Amino acid sequence: MARTPVIAGNWKMYKTIAEAKEFLVELIPQVKECEARVYIAVPYTALAPLAEQAHGSNVVIGAQNMNDASEGAYTGEIAAAMLVEAGAKFVILGHSERRHVFGEDDAFVNRKVRRALDEGLQPIVCVGETLKERSRNQTEEILRSQIEGSLAGVTAKEMSKVILAYEPVWAIGTGKTATPKTAQESHQFIRQLVAELWNEEVAEEIVIQYGGSVKPDNVRKLMNQPDVDGALVGGASLSVESFREIVNFSMSEV
Ligand code: 13P
Repeated sequence: MARTPVIAGNWKMYKTIAEAKEFLVELIPQVKECEARVYIAVPYTALAPLAEQAHGSNVVIGAQNMNDASEGAYTGEIAAAMLVEAGAKFVILGHSERRHVFGEDDAFVNRKVRRALDEGLQPIVCVGETLKERSRNQTEEILRSQIEGSLAGVTAKEMSKVILAYEPVWAIGTGKTATPKTAQESHQFIRQLVAELWNEEVAEEIVIQYGGSVKPDNVRKLMNQPDVDGALVGGASLSVESFREIVNFSMSEV
């Protein structure tokens, strides 16, 4: 496969600086032979120390969210330039927890994507349907409107820096992973949509991660699907053992 897989951990609101450092000390030697790219989205407080610690290794440190403004009176928010200064290389945008718990819409996600690209941060843009939407056969419609809305105005050249993450909301934190077939169907749809909205070359090159209850025992079958190029891992990225297994298993044949 021409696309280099990207396995990203999303720690959400877990790990103090001390816990994060301890994790990385253990992880780095265990993934150094891995051919996949290894990303971890850490809490803001752990960004600078972990980025420094990861320097020279094949682990890439990033953030889980940011604001779209360059700076301003936005209590509690964080700007892209601050993340870059702290050593973040990428940022997760439009995660379903941001969309559903904090009410973020596609227009807001789109402004953040614009800002991230302008500041040199690689966006991982998340999309995915709820259980209700899936049961009403609206999955493709939802994916289309989220992708069109979140990535409006992004050029084909800029798309080469974007990672897409398909995270069906019903699979996040529930233990209900999409079957490899269901994941492949959505990933294939997303890739075709990217070809339609940008072009074939962008579609061929873009990394599309699957997220939602990825574990060491299901990652291989998911990654063996032709349009699944990586994983966005929540709960199973919190322990070195399971994250290391996911990273290393992701490159092996079923
Ligand atoms: P889980 O792997 O815990 O289901 O979380 C998925 C996720 O939200 C990653 O961003």
